Amino acid sequence: MKENKATLTFDDGREPIDLPVLSGTLGPDVIDIRKLSAYNLFTFDPGFLSTASCDSGITYVDGERGMLYYRGYPIEQLARGSDFVEVCYLLLYGELPAPAQKARFSETLFSHALLHEQVNSFFRGFRRDAHPMSVMVGVVGALSSFYHDALDISDAAHRELSAFRLLAKLPTIAAWCYKYSIGQPFMYPQEGLGYAENFLYMMFATPSGSYRPDPVSVQAMDRILILHADHEQNASTSTVRLAGSSGANPFACIAAGLASLWGPAHGGANEAVVKMLEEIGDVSRIGQYVKRAKTKGDPFRLMGFGHRVYKNMDPRAEVMRATCHEVLDALGLEQDPLFKIALALESVALEDDYFIEKKLYPNVDFYSGIVLRALRIPTSMFTVIFALARTAGWVAQWNEMISDPQRKIGRPRQLYTGRALRDYVPLERREAPDPSTTG
Ligand code: SDX
Repeated sequence: MKENKATLTFDDGREPIDLPVLSGTLGPDVIDIRKLSAYNLFTFDPGFLSTASCDSGITYVDGERGMLYYRGYPIEQLARGSDFVEVCYLLLYGELPAPAQKARFSETLFSHALLHEQVNSFFRGFRRDAHPMSVMVGVVGALSSFYHDALDISDAAHRELSAFRLLAKLPTIAAWCYKYSIGQPFMYPQEGLGYAENFLYMMFATPSGSYRPDPVSVQAMDRILILHADHEQNASTSTVRLAGSSGANPFACIAAGLASLWGPAHGGANEAVVKMLEEIGDVSRIGQYVKRAKTKGDPFRLMGFGHRVYKNMDPRAEVMRATCHEVLDALGLEQDPLFKIALALESVALEDDYFIEKKLYPNVDFYSGIVLRALRIPTSMFTVIFALARTAGWVAQWNEMISDPQRKIGRPRQLYTGRALRDYVPLERREAPDPSTTG
């Protein structure tokens, strides 16, 4: 097949440069610029708006048409027909498991769900009012000091064992972050409970009670985990890949991803959405907040709206909105005031020229917080749950990168805008800058 190419031409008389154009299975072509450095040229793309950092076969996002596939399966079908353990398997191995494979995978994860008893002491070093994400970053990073038996990342079996440990222990750590913050004893995973069910059990059970999560909450939590599991090369996944490219151990890489996800522009948005809806407080006040979101210079943004890739409705938001209706109805919370404000805010924004022109639609975070509130999850735990789900994607993407024999350490370059060469000035010859000129 004739190779497609792009040709760079220069006005300053430099020789044109031919660059290969590569096509994937789906989505935009890419211009392969790897040889540009040989011409002492870099591309310039802060924020990576037009940059493909890698090739990957895990997740496909079509931002224009609002489509999301995990290993080729549409998110809508997985959210309705699959469960999170199956999605973890799919992301990691590339295929849906047969019944025996799923059963074995599920048993394996459960066998790794406990933490080394000494890990408990890591929690005690945090203030009780520490944000749970700060505890997650600390405790997950510390896991690398406990599992020296499987840190040869060149060994596929070691990578798989680390994947099992991370997928299995994150729910326990996440639930214990919550328990620690409210001063309740840690609860241990129970045999016979499913993945999402065990997480809710560890969140809300107490040694003196007989709590078991209700099926509506379990299904809603499982669906939230599926919807948040992976999303191609987002900020936190790119962080995990960059950390992993140096050969850092997988627990440290996931801790780096946690830190990146915590930001309000990324995984912290679901927490910010609920705080925004609470601040709006009443449908009658929506107009003034939409006006602020449109005002240049006003830092207020409609949290849960907009996306770097989706210039159409985030398909996860559609499923999450439907889940909101189902969960709130099932739990008798259909009059939830925040949900009413969210629905009204969405319809106002979707008819507003500013949001239409800038293609700003609700994203996955817009409704997820309302469902989590209905499940009695505290706002401070929303990003923790996003992180719990995204660990499936991070682990799969990390494994894909480390398995690539062409792997290189990630090392971007820059456009240097600092001072040109100058000689050192000894201290005695330096004068204080004139304040009237330095401002
Ligand atoms: C996630 O990347 C992923 O895949 C992420 C994620 C995943 O699954 O991993 O999908 C999860 O992070 C979802 C996004 C959650 N964040 C929020 O909801 C925070 C609010 N949204 C934004 O701050 C913003 O939309 C981003 C960060 C999500 C995207 O920012 P971009 O692509 O860098 O776009 P931008 O900030 O340059 O905005 C483009 C224009 C700007 O106006 P102009 O300067 O061109 O006049 O749109 C405006 C922005 O001011 N704009 C908004 C807005 N988002 C963008 N205006 C009001 N409200 C908003 N929410």
